[in-house]
Amino acid sequence: MRNVKSRRTLHAREIMPKQITLAVAILAASVIAVVTIVASSARYEHATSGIAAEPRVERCRLRDPRAPLRPIPNPPRADPREVALGARLFDDKRLSSDDSISCASCHVLALGGADGRRLSVGIGGAIGAINAPTVLNSGLLFAQFWDGRAQTLEEQIDGTLHDPAEMASSWPDILAKLARDPALVQRFRELYPEGLEAATVKRAIATFERSLLTPDSAFDRWLCSDDAALDSSAIRGVALFTEYGCVSCHQGVAIGGNMFQKFGVAGDYFATREPTASDRGRYNVTGELADRYVFKVPRLRNVALTAPYFHDASAPTLEVAVTVMARYQLGRTIPSDDLADIVAFLRALTGELPRVAP
Ligand code: HEC
Ligand code: HEC
Repeated sequence: MRNVKSRRTLHAREIMPKQITLAVAILAASVIAVVTIVASSARYEHATSGIAAEPRVERCRLRDPRAPLRPIPNPPRADPREVALGARLFDDKRLSSDDSISCASCHVLALGGADGRRLSVGIGGAIGAINAPTVLNSGLLFAQFWDGRAQTLEEQIDGTLHDPAEMASSWPDILAKLARDPALVQRFRELYPEGLEAATVKRAIATFERSLLTPDSAFDRWLCSDDAALDSSAIRGVALFTEYGCVSCHQGVAIGGNMFQKFGVAGDYFATREPTASDRGRYNVTGELADRYVFKVPRLRNVALTAPYFHDASAPTLEVAVTVMARYQLGRTIPSDDLADIVAFLRALTGELPRVAP
């Protein structure tokens, strides 16, 4: 747990109080970027329980080693049998109370790891309260859920399994069902001395999730000095993403997922409607007024595949999402040329999707 302390300090610094101006925020961004890159890579190793990540993307000659946007690293080393067991469980409907839903029902890997709906549909048609994010590249995030209430992927699983609007299940039920499957029990015995337990089910699924990185997007190839990987519009988009200050929040290897920020830094995003419980964001976790409307900055990797956008699914397209971001996070209106370029950059963030055997 050697990283916990430094990560906490980091949050405190990154949740910028309102009175700090955006200019200061952007100036601070480069400092934060360096610190968070160090922190996120440390976390990444930590997440692999002590096994160091393999050398990053062999053959990559970085265009700018100090840039705040970084290529996706190699997945952490893992036992392929454990990854395969996790994949099997990710697709296993016995994890839900009435055997109707698996993780894959709401996180469709071949379509980008989300469900394409505004709100997910759980057990018995129950409608969720918040948009489902992708699971792809989740191993790179510093916390899980929109409000960051789970620290690890293992912890995240408990939330989902027990949520009455999702899988509505319980560990005693799940373990009883899985224990009636001798072939599965055997696979657990081969991998873990303790065999089939809640902890090993979570460990297998989380190990599988950490393997779900999507390297080799056009943008990654460009970061690794392949000039032809991006067209001129996307290249202008990269520069604009930095100049407008998007990069002060969306940064690092996942282009997001390494800090909490308020939704509505430069204007009241929730002014025109009654905020819902989910809108309160991190306030639901800490109970602190300063955390109202604060969310984990989402990763923008593969963002072109995961419409609709925002925790409330209010933006149907990338164009709308970027316009809203400019207005409420930066206090800017974006001319249509710049908007098209930024969207071209975001579309270049689609990487190689994991090929998971059915
Ligand atoms: C009924 C649909 C549904 C099912 C089934 C489901 N999820 Fe999710 N998942 C969601 C929603 C909605 C969220 C966002 C919840 C929130 O942030 O409060 C989420 C969030 C996540 C996150 C956090 C991602 C991030 O960016 O913070 C991960 C990881 C995840 N789910 C993995 C899983 C796993 C593993 C399973 C199976 C054990 C699973 N999900 C089952 C809908 C679902
Ligand atoms: C002050 C921090 C901050 C800045 C600056 C910022 N964002 Fe965001 N961005 C966020 C947060 C927080 C969210 C999540 C909002 C929510 O849904 O609650 C978000 C969400 C998004 C999303 C939706 C992602 C998804 O999966 O739903 C996109 C796309 C996006 N931002 C792009 C941009 C672009 C492009 C810029 C620059 C024009 C930008 N952002 C500037 C913090 C920021």
